[in-house]
Parts: sequence; structure tokens; C-alpha cells
Amino acid sequence: MKKSSEKQPSVVGLFSGCGGLDLGFKRAGFDILWANDFNADSVKTYARNIGDHIVLGDITKIPSKEIPSNFDVLLGGFPCQGFSVANTKRSMKDERNYLYLEMLRILKDKKPKFFVAENVKGLLSLEKGNVIEMILKDFENIGYKVDYRLLMASDYGIPQHRERVFIIGNRIGKENPFPKYSHGLKNDLFNPILEPYISTKEVLEHLANVRTRDKPFKLGKKTIYNHVARTNVSDKFWGRKHKVNQFDICDYLKKWRKDSGWSTKKIDEYFGYAHTAGHWFRKDNNSGCIPNPDDWKVLKKLLKFDDKYDKQVTELEQKTIVFEQSLRINNWEEPSDTITATGPEIHPNRKRRMSVRECAILQTFPDDFVFEGAIGSMYKQIGNAVPVDLAYKIGFAIKQHL
Ligand SMILES: C[S@@+](CC[C@H](N)C(=O)[O-])C[C@H]1O[C@@H](n2cnc3c(N)ncnc32)[C@H](O)[C@@H]1O
Repeated sequence: MKKSSEKQPSVVGLFSGCGGLDLGFKRAGFDILWANDFNADSVKTYARNIGDHIVLGDITKIPSKEIPSNFDVLLGGFPCQGFSVANTKRSMKDERNYLYLEMLRILKDKKPKFFVAENVKGLLSLEKGNVIEMILKDFENIGYKVDYRLLMASDYGIPQHRERVFIIGNRIGKENPFPKYSHGLKNDLFNPILEPYISTKEVLEHLANVRTRDKPFKLGKKTIYNHVARTNVSDKFWGRKHKVNQFDICDYLKKWRKDSGWSTKKIDEYFGYAHTAGHWFRKDNNSGCIPNPDDWKVLKKLLKFDDKYDKQVTELEQKTIVFEQSLRINNWEEPSDTITATGPEIHPNRKRRMSVRECAILQTFPDDFVFEGAIGSMYKQIGNAVPVDLAYKIGFAIKQHL
């Protein structure tokens, strides 16, 4: 734990991940007293690049007395999966719901002047907007004036279209400051003062044809770290040789299942699946799907259906992927698509996915910010982060009020 310096305003970070949000605030002139995450790789990355004030651990198990007091801003992007307003126990089944309450607990106990919470856009539509309303009310009930905005990162000079919700609250009677957007379409007649969006090309061109490698290397004067990439980019895939009508096949299977006496649940159990078989027999067909050829053969033995659709279901051929339709490719002349935690996009050169470093650049992490962990973990840490430059702008706006 660090000691609060007298001059600088200070923050505590919850759910800090690899530290995008925290780093932005640090750059804006905040002293980070304490931070927390329970993901070991993220904590390693954070400690290496930002500071060893980060504590590895589950926030639900950390009592407030172990967190410093007298800081100015609490930061945290609490995960919001599984929220339910209707459930009076607030979805006790889903532990992640507690995480929002953790932020509330620490605000209650420490009473910082401001807090900033970042979240995915989906938070706004959860339970028809009741979830965000509940959250705002809960923050208001403990003495905060709360506002939220959906910010598009590219509007703030980030080379990425990334929409996220930012909730800001303060208990010192101020207007909650959100940064003013500065970037937009070139030659926007309605906003002639805006600077043009920053394109992927502008920030990534220098790496476009640079071989990926595990170790850091020199490129001109720069040292390039983490220029590693997944290479599962193929322009061929196995697709069905014949045209199939999914509606017909699902109905056909449904009839045979009924006649056989096998329940959908039993079939799932037989295959070791959880909910797959349900889709094979679905009458509404909106979420129906045809079994893959191997499953089809097993199912045929179970339900003893005839050969009517065998050929259509089991015969495959290699087809060419139409890239633009099946895999997103990073926009080159515009800000990139959103960098997500699940899997990076195909690089415009189509030979590989975006490298870890390229994703980091699109999230405005500095070049010397080095990520720790296996490649999937690094991609995840970056995709989860708040773009550093956007965090800086939010931090800067709040600092003016302190
Ligand atoms: C969306 S990420 C936050 C990213 C971060 N704000 C940034 O800008 O880099 C959410 C983080 O919450 C962490 N987390 C989830 N549940 C947690 C818990 N119970 N205790 C501590 N951290 C947790 C995850 O490991 C993840 O790093």
C-alpha cells in the first residue's frame, strides 16, 4: 500500500485488470494508492507496468479495512453478467452480481469524492433498463449525484470504434464531468472543428508486414514487445455440399424422436451435451440446427430414421470463405472495430490475426507496456481494458473538479 502524496489527488482501483483505466488516471496526475484484481496474469501485467500497489485477490473476500481510506476517486468496471432486478435476492445464484455490491460497499465505507464505473453497452438494456436504474438509485441512496453516458472511443481520438457506458458519481455537489468529444468524420459540415477520426492504418502501418515473434525486437528506434498473433486464419472451411432445408430436417428429426420414445434430455445425456439436442428438434426453427455428420450417424442409430436426408447432412466439401462475410477484418482506413476479449480480428494482410501489440496500440496502451501470460490471456486483458487515452481524458476532466 502506498502513502497518499500531499499534492496529487488519489485513486483506488477495483476490477483493475491490466490497468487501462488506472493508467489513464495516473497519467492525468492521480496517485494510485491501491488496486485489485483476481486474475493472476492481469495483476502481473499491472505490477510490471504501473506499480506493485495492486493486490491479487477476490474483492468479495477483502474487508474494507484492508483498503486505504482518504482517497479521492474510486475506479472500477464491475462485471455485470447475471443481473436480475426481479429477483429480490438479486440473483443470488450468480456470484458475479455481488461485484456491483462490492463497489457500493467500498463507496459506503470510504466515501471518496468521485467514482467512475465502466461497463458494456448491454448494461443499459438489461431487464429493459431496470438494472441501470437500480444501480443509479443505489449509488444515489448512499449520497452520490450520478450520471452516465455511452461514450464512443473513436470520438475521443482513439483509433477504435468502441462504445462503453461510463457512470460517474460525486458527493461534493458538482456536475459530473464527462470529456468533450474531439474527433469525427472528415469534413463534417455540422462539426467543422472536429479533428478527423484516427484510422487503424495511421497507428498500425509500421507493423503491417513485420514478422511476428515471441521476443521483443527493435524496429527503428522502437522496441516492439508482444508482437505475437494467432494465425488460425484460413480461407477454406468445410461446408455442406448440398443445399439443405433446415426446417424440413428439424421437423423430420422431431417426428422420429417422438416415435422412438427418446426424450430430448436423454439424447443430450447420451451425447454428453447440455442443450444441443433441443436445437435438432426445434419446431420454431429460429434456433434450430442440423447435427454435424458424426452426430447424425449416432443419432440415426438411436432413433432408427431412414436415409432420406443422409446425403444432404453428411456430405461436406471445402469451400472458400468470403472474408468480409464470415470474419471481421479490421478496418484499415477507419478506426478499427471493437477490440474484444474473446478473439482478435483478422489483420488486413489476412495472414494472421491482429497481434497482441496491435490490439494494445488500438487500445492506446504505450509501446513499452508489456503484457504477461499466454497469448489468449494477453488478448483478453487488452480487450477488457478501457482505452488508456480515454481514461486519461475522463481523469483529466475529474481532476479539474478536485
Ligand atoms: C472489464 S475488466 C476491467 C478492466 C480494467 N478496468 C481496465 O481498464 O483494464 C474486469 C476485471 O474484473 C476482474 N474481476 C472479476 N471478478 C472479480 C473479483 N471477484 N475480484 C476481483 N477482480 C475480479 C476480472 O479479472 C477483470 O480483470
